Amino acid sequence: MSKKIFSGMRPTGKLHLGHLVGAISSWIELQKSYPCIFSIVDWHAYMGEYEQSKGIKENILDMAVDWIACGIDPEKSILFVQSEVPEHLELAMVFGCITPLGWLERNPTYKEQLREITSRDLQTFGFLGYPVLQAADILLYKANAVPIGEDQLPHLELTREIARRFNHLTKKNIFPDCEAILTQTPRLLGLDGRKMSKSYQNAINLSDSADAVRANAKKMITDPKRARLADPGHPHECNVFESYYKVFAPQKINDVQEWCTKAQKGCTDCKAILAEELVKLLAPIQDKRQELLAKPQRIREILDEGRKKAGAIARQTIAEVKEAIF
Ligand code: TRP
Ligand code: SF4
Repeated sequence: MSKKIFSGMRPTGKLHLGHLVGAISSWIELQKSYPCIFSIVDWHAYMGEYEQSKGIKENILDMAVDWIACGIDPEKSILFVQSEVPEHLELAMVFGCITPLGWLERNPTYKEQLREITSRDLQTFGFLGYPVLQAADILLYKANAVPIGEDQLPHLELTREIARRFNHLTKKNIFPDCEAILTQTPRLLGLDGRKMSKSYQNAINLSDSADAVRANAKKMITDPKRARLADPGHPHECNVFESYYKVFAPQKINDVQEWCTKAQKGCTDCKAILAEELVKLLAPIQDKRQELLAKPQRIREILDEGRKKAGAIARQTIAEVKEAIF
């Protein structure tokens, strides 16, 4: 069966290298072969940041610029902002009516977030319903393939269950079964060896200047067993090698292994060389970013175009849904 792709990303801050090797690079591959819809899911951002939501607007535009600069092609794919297509909320309401509370309360991602995020009050009706809105995002377009990270699998399982339940209740076959497309790349670790994340301040952003990249590379933790230049290093126990050289400069991994295990170069040099590779890799993305930022009305046009295309599909689905219910 032919694939119809939908994915979304919350506009919660600048995109970093982890997004590039995770979601974005897989989206770029997929758009070569399949119809794709990519949404900037601002309502999902709001669910988590309702206490301080004013930054979301700026992040939306920044995200659109980053996506396009990386190679998401508005000629091929539909790019739009979730809140500009009101049918997302309409379908979420319908799904909210048929989703048993137990399904949501049992969701492991939900339980983990309530436990771990203590700086914000997430004990809200909306946040419990996060995966209901996510199901609406996907099913509004009858997408059957969803590129996501592993942490999102429980949400996709709920999407499938909600689709089946709706079909069952209405005795119609409106919504398809959907599958996850798991992003291949292992999770990229940040400068400090923890998961790369804005909240840990350990990320290299796509928009970071060359000097910022160099300064950040200096901070990267290396093989903890290598205390002195004269000690041979263990590249496979080093985040600089495992997370960065392997992914962003694979043509250099033999050299690195050689100079590291034979103690020919120190970590400072090794990281400085890596920094130059990253600067080179980011340069074309940043040039494209500058080009786009010089024409903000072009970004607005692209998002308007996306809103129209997405809206037309969404209205059709909602009409079917109402027809099935009432
Ligand atoms: N929950 C996803 C995340 O945090 C974002 C998201 C919202 C999404 N709606 C979606 C992803 C629909 C895939 C499909 O990463
Ligand atoms: Fe890591 Fe490079 Fe140092 Fe080896 S030389 S430990 S690969 S930073």
